[in-house]
Amino acid sequence: MAKIGIFFGTDTGRTRLIAKQIAKKLGDAADAPVNIGRTTLADFLAYDALILGSPTLGDGELPGLSTGLSQPSWEEFLPQLAGADLAGKTAAVYGLGDQKKYPDEFVDAIGLIHDALVAGGARLVGHWPTEGYEFATSRAVVGDHFLGLAIDQINQPVLTEERLNTWLSQIQPELSP
Ligand SMILES: Cc1cc2nc3c(=O)[nH]c(=O)nc-3n(C[C@H](O)[C@H](O)[C@H](O)COP(=O)(O)O)c2cc1C
Repeated sequence: MAKIGIFFGTDTGRTRLIAKQIAKKLGDAADAPVNIGRTTLADFLAYDALILGSPTLGDGELPGLSTGLSQPSWEEFLPQLAGADLAGKTAAVYGLGDQKKYPDEFVDAIGLIHDALVAGGARLVGHWPTEGYEFATSRAVVGDHFLGLAIDQINQPVLTEERLNTWLSQIQPELSP
């Protein structure tokens, strides 16, 4: 069975840690997580099932050189997907953010990554209810759902394990049919 590819961006390491937890929970179903800034388009496109993680940095921005990272990240990778044929791929996005400090741009990166994948024809799964979070606006929200799993390790770390377990049981049948 083809494996799930896990790609993440990060500044201070929290999103990497979550990627590792996801990989551990998925066991043989997934390959080891890879930093998106250290991969190639060909390695990314080799997967038909993807889990993509990112923090939101700046003012609702993707991590990358313009948000102060010393290495390329999602900001530099996503433009490479423009024009790529992602039909037949299934992807789920998770995002880390801080709903108290950034209530107007909470986990925006989920929406940015989601939209780039959809533009290429990928099928996105893993929408997640906004209930239980307190924020004002987010580019990651449509109706009463986030376009992926929102994780707040600053204000709600105790909720993360349960959220991850529920989300993974929701997306795994879609990613490994
Ligand atoms: C400079 C800076 C800007 C941030 N901007 C946002 C933001 O716009 N929206 C948000 O939800 N979180 C924002 N955050 C919070 C981070 O997304 C959060 O701390 C996350 O856990 C970092 O993950 P990482 O350790 O993988 O880099 C910001 C954090 C910093 C340091």
